[in-house]
Amino acid sequence: MSAGIQVPASGKSFADWTAAHAARVERALEAALPAADEHPVPLHDAMRYAVLGGGKRVRPLLVLAAGEAVGAPGEALERAACAVEMIHAYSLVHDDLPCMDDDVLRRGRPTVHVVWGEALAMLVGDALQAMAFEVLAGVDRPAAARMVAELAAAAGSRGMAGGQAIDLGAVGASMSRDALEDMHRRKTGALLRASVRLGAMCGEPGAQGTGARGAGPGNAGQGGFGDLMARLDEYAGAIGLAFQVVDDILDVEGDAATLGKTAGKDADSNKPTYVSVLGLAEAKRLAAELHAAALAAIEPLGESGRRLRELADLIVLRRS
Ligand code: IPE
Ligand code: IPE
Ligand code: MG
Ligand code: MG
Ligand code: MG
Repeated sequence: MSAGIQVPASGKSFADWTAAHAARVERALEAALPAADEHPVPLHDAMRYAVLGGGKRVRPLLVLAAGEAVGAPGEALERAACAVEMIHAYSLVHDDLPCMDDDVLRRGRPTVHVVWGEALAMLVGDALQAMAFEVLAGVDRPAAARMVAELAAAAGSRGMAGGQAIDLGAVGASMSRDALEDMHRRKTGALLRASVRLGAMCGEPGAQGTGARGAGPGNAGQGGFGDLMARLDEYAGAIGLAFQVVDDILDVEGDAATLGKTAGKDADSNKPTYVSVLGLAEAKRLAAELHAAALAAIEPLGESGRRLRELADLIVLRRS
């Protein structure tokens, strides 16, 4: 994996930054995944189909933006970015299975189980999850082992998998606002939060103080790495929840052509969502409130938090 493109944070528009970094993530994912013709071919072909050539890459971009904010090295960031996107892609393949949301369209294409069958789709998820940890374990940074634990916790029964279990158990049921928030923080918020934290952890100083720029822009006047991490964590919690609130809104307001997935699915499946529990107007108000909270949390980062601010805008204002 390359050391990445080093440009001053202020040197590019957000669109240019996003395009350059998404392309960098695409190349890293492409290189990390087994070749499509490697035995067993159907599994590797389907893994590549699930991961490559689609998706907004919000989680990897959060890894890179958080890493830039703390001056983390590019190779570690690319590994962490690939790992979170592999976990995300696996979660989408399983989320779309007939035994879960039963969706036939994802990222504008037929879902993995539609093309390869349910059994292989399960194995695609299994293999992508394992590969995510294989890639992350190769990070050569003081925090590497804790990064593996961080991602495992976010993906596991207290995080994403737990949130998905709550989601499936809630079909047709009513849900309190608190319970809804808890579900969303787990099923979607946990991995987004981990993306920000992993990017920052790539720059965490070691015992000898090696790592993030001690006096870099991200740390200036922040009272050290712990303070910076606390701010990033607050930001990450807010955008993590906002992401699923907006996903619920888009399920109602969007269309399949723009979303690349079936619209109106939540109401059809009788799922409690922010829209069904609070109504559309209140869901939008909450998204705006979380957006403001995220921006306030990283306000002291100044210019080094620019990409994180722009990503918060993207997460809340997106149409797909
Ligand atoms: C969709 O995530 C699933 C949720 C967690 C809401 P994204 O909206 O990030 O999907 P892609 O990666 O862009 O396809
Ligand atoms: C999916 O939530 C969350 C995970 C995949 C962990 P949704 O079921 O709302 O996602 P979409 O709308 O199918 O993308
Ligand atoms: Mg789902
Ligand atoms: Mg779904
Ligand atoms: Mg959804």
